[in-house]
Amino acid sequence: MSGQREPIAVIGTGYVGLVTAAGFAELGNEVWCVDVDADKIAQLERGEIPIYEPGLGESIERCKDRLHFSTELAPALEHARLLFVAVGTPPTYSGDADLSAVHAVVDSMPPSDRHALVMKSTVPVGTGASIRRELDARGKGGFSYVSCPEFLKEGSALEDFLHPDRVVVGDVGDWAGDAVVELYAPLEASLVRTDIASAEMIKLAANAFLATKISFINEIANVCEATGADVQEVARGMGLDRRIGTHFLRPGLGFGGSCFPKDVSALKQLAGNSGYHFQLLTAVIEVNELQKRRVIAKLQKHLGTLVGKTVTLLGLAFKANTDDMREASSLVLAARLQADGARVRAYDPIAEEEARKLMHGVEFADSALEAAKGADALVVVTEWPEFADLDWARVAEVTSGRILIDGRNFIDGAKAQAAGFVYEGIGR
Ligand SMILES: NC(=O)c1ccc[n+]([C@@H]2O[C@H](COP(=O)([O-])OP(=O)(O)OC[C@H]3O[C@@H](n4cnc5c(N)ncnc54)[C@H](O)[C@@H]3O)[C@@H](O)[C@H]2O)c1
Repeated sequence: MSGQREPIAVIGTGYVGLVTAAGFAELGNEVWCVDVDADKIAQLERGEIPIYEPGLGESIERCKDRLHFSTELAPALEHARLLFVAVGTPPTYSGDADLSAVHAVVDSMPPSDRHALVMKSTVPVGTGASIRRELDARGKGGFSYVSCPEFLKEGSALEDFLHPDRVVVGDVGDWAGDAVVELYAPLEASLVRTDIASAEMIKLAANAFLATKISFINEIANVCEATGADVQEVARGMGLDRRIGTHFLRPGLGFGGSCFPKDVSALKQLAGNSGYHFQLLTAVIEVNELQKRRVIAKLQKHLGTLVGKTVTLLGLAFKANTDDMREASSLVLAARLQADGARVRAYDPIAEEEARKLMHGVEFADSALEAAKGADALVVVTEWPEFADLDWARVAEVTSGRILIDGRNFIDGAKAQAAGFVYEGIGR
């Protein structure tokens, strides 16, 4: 099969780039991976996977003969026509997307009549048009350009790549768009082939809509708390309406991660820069920020002042099944607790190494039980499956206080209460 499949290149071997590379390698493509991070490339060449993503290591091992890693662009340009760009586009201080890594890739391209840049990175609408102008102005007009936004979720990224809800291809109708469509054909996914600007907007609008759903159910949760309704029941009753759907109606500590916060903010800024004030997104962002802080008020309700109190955070990653700490709610919580004079202890089964780079003055433990020792209160921040299976009677024996705040409505409250905990979730 590999003989007939188009060889491709992937530039940027982070969460999206590595998964894209492994996914296409699974489909039989030779994949030439390039990254500026020499340590990461060295790790990958040794067969080590620099990120935690279920199934990714096994996939890369299975397909190792078709995967090539280098810090050099030349082998990729030699072997592949389609160059998938999966570099980071983090937020700037103003909330716009930082496109410096994307521009560095564009600048590094030599003139060519047989290559295409295929943009997987999430970029503002108009980026494709501006890259086109840049390429033309620098004598690289022979380059084709395709927008192919990525919708995978960390934690189930490879599965999402192989079974996408849809594939979006934005192009000008030339060979490169056809080749990208052909590449994805074995996945038999719904195809949205459209213009470049619309493809760019589909990605931003989809993430903004999902973030809106989260902030909406969080506000409903807050009203439930004030009125005596149970948001879990409300979300179930709402979600069964097919026009609404059950996904992303999970109340909690707000959204984090490398995508939602930055993409919502980038869309809001993009609208503002284009002369339109996107009121709804302003509220979505504000609700999300306030939601992370509501746990502090819950703790104060039970503990009074937090000065000198020990609070244990169970889970630090922005969600389960990832080691990604970008914009994790735990970062805001730990900082707020410390500012209020609390001592913060923490446990995460996977993300501790990343967390240590970002959190200071936090005591890390090797297990949930150890982290709970001597704590006045516990806060479930990430819905790691192992927390659902905790022996709460055993946990109660080692804590000083019996306050359990479930920031993800994930723990069996009755079990925790039977073990002597005062249990409080979100919105119920
Ligand atoms: N992480 C997700 O869940 C997700 C999902 C969909 C879309 N996206 C988008 O995909 C893009 C990549 O996200 P990510 O989470 O994989 O980022 P990441 O930070 O994990 O990886 C980016 C990689 O690009 C490399 N890089 C930077 N500049 C480079 C250059 N000039 N040449 C080669 N490599 C370079 C970095 O060293 C890094 O390894 C972003 O635009 C993001 O918004 C991410």
